Amino acid sequence: MKVLIPGSFDPPTNGHIDVIKRCSKVFDEVLIGVVVNPSKKSLFTTKIRELMLNEIISETPNISTKTFEGLLVDFAKVNNVQAIVKGLRAMTDFDYEFQMAQMNSNLADFETIFIPASPEYGYVSSSMVKEINSYGGDISKLVPPNVLKRMDDA
Ligand code: PNS
Repeated sequence: MKVLIPGSFDPPTNGHIDVIKRCSKVFDEVLIGVVVNPSKKSLFTTKIRELMLNEIISETPNISTKTFEGLLVDFAKVNNVQAIVKGLRAMTDFDYEFQMAQMNSNLADFETIFIPASPEYGYVSSSMVKEINSYGGDISKLVPPNVLKRMDDA
C-alpha cells in the first residue's frame, strides 16, 4: 500500500521524521508531499524543505518526496496513493484534522489514517521550533542535525 504524508515541513521536525519512518515500516511506499503555499509566509523555500527531507530519508528506499500545489486530493490521485496519513500530537490536533479528513473523503473518497505521535515528540511543532530558534533557544533535540544547521544559517 502506498500512502501520502502531506505537510508544510517548515522546517521538518523530529516529530515529522518519527511519523514518516514509522510509516515506512508499516506501508510499502511512503510519499512525502511538501505543500507549496504562496499565501503562507515560510522560513524555507519549498525546494529547501524538500531537500532537507531528502537528506534525512536518503537511506530509506521506500520513502520519496515531491512538492505539490493545489488540492491535496488531486495530488494524491495523480500519484496513485491509497490513503493519506497524518500524525496526531494531541487532541488539539484532532478537530482540525478530523474536519480535513472528512472533507478529503467527501472531495475524492480518500481515506485518512491517523498515526499517534510518539510521546517524546507530542509537544514538538515547526512553529515552536522557529520561535525558540529566533530567540536563540536550544532546538538541537527537536530537529535533525541537517535541519539544525540550516536553521543556524537562516
Ligand atoms: O503541515 P501542515 O501545514 O499542517 O499541512 C497542511 C496541509 C498541507 C496538509 C494542508 O494545508 C493541505 O492539504 N493543503 C492543500 C490544499 C487542500 O487540499 N486543502 C483542502 C484540505 S481539506
